[in-house]
Amino acid sequence: MINGKIGTAVIGYGGMGKWHTEKMMRDMSERMELVGIYDIKEERCDLARENGIYVFSSREELLADERIDFIVVATPNDLHKEIAIQAMEAGKSVMSEKPVTMSSEMLEEMIDASKRTGKLFTVHQNRRFDPDYLTIKKIYEANTLGRLFNIESRVCGSRGIPGDWRQKKAQGGGMILDWGIHTLDQILMLFDDKKLLSVYNQVTNITNDEVDDGFSCELRYEGNLTVHLYVGTSNFIDLPRWYMQGENGTAVITDWDLNGEIVMVSDWENRDAVPIQAGVGLTKTMAPRTDDTIKKYPLPYVEKVSFSAESRLYNNLCDAIEGKAEPIVTHDQQRRLIRVVEAMFESAEKNEVIKF
Ligand SMILES: NC(=O)c1ccc[n+]([C@@H]2O[C@H](COP(=O)([O-])OP(=O)(O)OC[C@H]3O[C@@H](n4cnc5c(N)ncnc54)[C@H](O)[C@@H]3O)[C@@H](O)[C@H]2O)c1
Repeated sequence: MINGKIGTAVIGYGGMGKWHTEKMMRDMSERMELVGIYDIKEERCDLARENGIYVFSSREELLADERIDFIVVATPNDLHKEIAIQAMEAGKSVMSEKPVTMSSEMLEEMIDASKRTGKLFTVHQNRRFDPDYLTIKKIYEANTLGRLFNIESRVCGSRGIPGDWRQKKAQGGGMILDWGIHTLDQILMLFDDKKLLSVYNQVTNITNDEVDDGFSCELRYEGNLTVHLYVGTSNFIDLPRWYMQGENGTAVITDWDLNGEIVMVSDWENRDAVPIQAGVGLTKTMAPRTDDTIKKYPLPYVEKVSFSAESRLYNNLCDAIEGKAEPIVTHDQQRRLIRVVEAMFESAEKNEVIKF
């Protein structure tokens, strides 16, 4: 501790490591004191110094500093386990960036280290606080649409995978371990009380052969609920971020700016329609509903995030380090997440449905 504040450090000062230092110095400065960072790249160390941050000369030097209580691991994915375990053994609480690590076996080693050392170990699943997700959660919890039978969560990019470690399998590259982890964590938390029955996943390799640059996954839950997760990096036209169907209505969120709407049927009995011309034929079944049998509503209000709104996770972290709260992101949640990720890889490899 430093003057009653939690002493912190970040290992890996890339895009996300820098973000964590800004979080600690700007929003969390009343509870945290950033002691320094360590990165293997000299240009990243120079940038840290320019930003007024102390740079340790080695990981060992950083871990030996007794002022540091808490460490964020923000390196490429293959290094999370090794660094997190070393940090806990050096007496530090740890938050790993997502994905926590690359297999259930590796995760158990990390959890064992936490038990052995008595040190807090959690993961930065920040997208549990995304406003688009919180909007979907609100619609689901209010049972707005009636019995839910389908939900689709899609993230569309058009730049392939960045040309760094994210393209290397050995370093934990690919979209399943990247955006997949976020979208899957959101769904597993949303349907926390439901039993997952099976997973079927297919991957794409459009821009490279080594790692998946996208995937399409179907999760089947008890109660005839289907979830479609999709991540793409060759989408020059975006698909809606969320599409949700219940027996009495449909909700759509088209983008991260929360554009979208809810359409509810107001007169289910009024099914008869005048056939319409569609393509070269007629259709009655697919004739659009007339305005007198539906009602349109705006999406429910959730607070839009700002940089500081995301401090909920960080404040919980401080409480947990101080022994006043349980961490929001638990070991069991991570165990379940990684198990489903493993099922996604297995399903894609065998082209089979994986049952739970
Ligand atoms: N939670 C989120 O929203 C979010 C967003 C982006 C990335 N991430 C995660 O954050 C982690 C880092 O991603 P990024 O986008 O910052 O990548 P990045 O490539 O920008 O940064 C990684 C940094 O780690 C450094 N590094 C590599 N090996 C090291 C070592 N042995 N010791 C110290 N530093 C080392 C690199 O030099 C680099 O500066 C990944 O696990 C990624 O999945 C999370």
